[in-house]
Amino acid sequence: MGLLEGKTGIVFGVANKRSLAWAIAQALSREGMRLAFTYQGERLKDSVAALTSTLPDSLLLPCDVTNDAEVADVFGRVDAELGRLDSLVHSVAYAPKDDLENEFVNTSREGFKLAHDISAYSLVALTKAALPLFEKSGGGSVVALTYYGAEKAVEGYNLMGVAKASLEASVRYLAANLGPRNVRVNAISAGPVNTLAARGIKGFTGMLHHHAEKAPLRRNVELEEVGNAALFLVSPMSSGITGEVMFVDCGYNIVGL
Ligand SMILES: NC(=O)c1ccc[n+]([C@@H]2O[C@H](COP(=O)([O-])OP(=O)(O)OC[C@H]3O[C@@H](n4cnc5c(N)ncnc54)[C@H](O)[C@@H]3O)[C@@H](O)[C@H]2O)c1
Repeated sequence: MGLLEGKTGIVFGVANKRSLAWAIAQALSREGMRLAFTYQGERLKDSVAALTSTLPDSLLLPCDVTNDAEVADVFGRVDAELGRLDSLVHSVAYAPKDDLENEFVNTSREGFKLAHDISAYSLVALTKAALPLFEKSGGGSVVALTYYGAEKAVEGYNLMGVAKASLEASVRYLAANLGPRNVRVNAISAGPVNTLAARGIKGFTGMLHHHAEKAPLRRNVELEEVGNAALFLVSPMSSGITGEVMFVDCGYNIVGL
């Protein structure tokens, strides 16, 4: 019997088989969780469907997280088809390429707004929409994905670092707000992994090499390790933990020099 048998979850952010969201989904499904997924736009539909259809009884729905009507539709369908919800995985981020690549001081107002809307506010909007379903289950667990660039100025991470700082603060405020309703909210701060989103970061390959050299474990984190950490945060094994940012980075963040 799996740790999550009889439980249901929704995963936002699968784009392809390299997505952190997909590694997380595989770990949750392995432990018996039934999953709903969303994809962003028709362009991604077929490739995401090819993955999610390999998991038992999965549900796949369109959702651009900037679109309130699509968010409402998603949770309506989850209610109708799954009847309950125990967890929500937020693995979504975006910042315009120019705003990532330019000097930080030149960040545009529009880029700043869009990056925060998609990468941080969406956590609040999705958690709010999930609440009535969490209540049916007697509580819930929300897990978001973040990066060290929220805490320290990391070359090339720029606007995304500021959006991640907002995401991490949102994790804490949501956790404080929703704890009395037995809803836990945590984040995983993952070390760099070569994904579609990561390729938007200038100098990403250099970042990978640097992390592998400096991290105490002398390597980069594997997708499966991020999946297993999310499994821990979703499962009752972490029932006393909320509002935390948990590093899954081979120890990189603890090193000073
Ligand atoms: N790859 C890394 O090195 C790394 C490290 C730490 C944290 N993260 C975080 O992990 C999360 C997942 O990223 P990933 O690296 O797996 O890349 P990815 O490209 O596979 O996933 C990013 C996802 O965000 C989705 N997305 C973007 N804009 C959206 C919108 N408007 N509506 C709905 N979905 C939207 C994309 O469709 C995609 O599925 C992100 O929050 C990212 O910042 C990544």
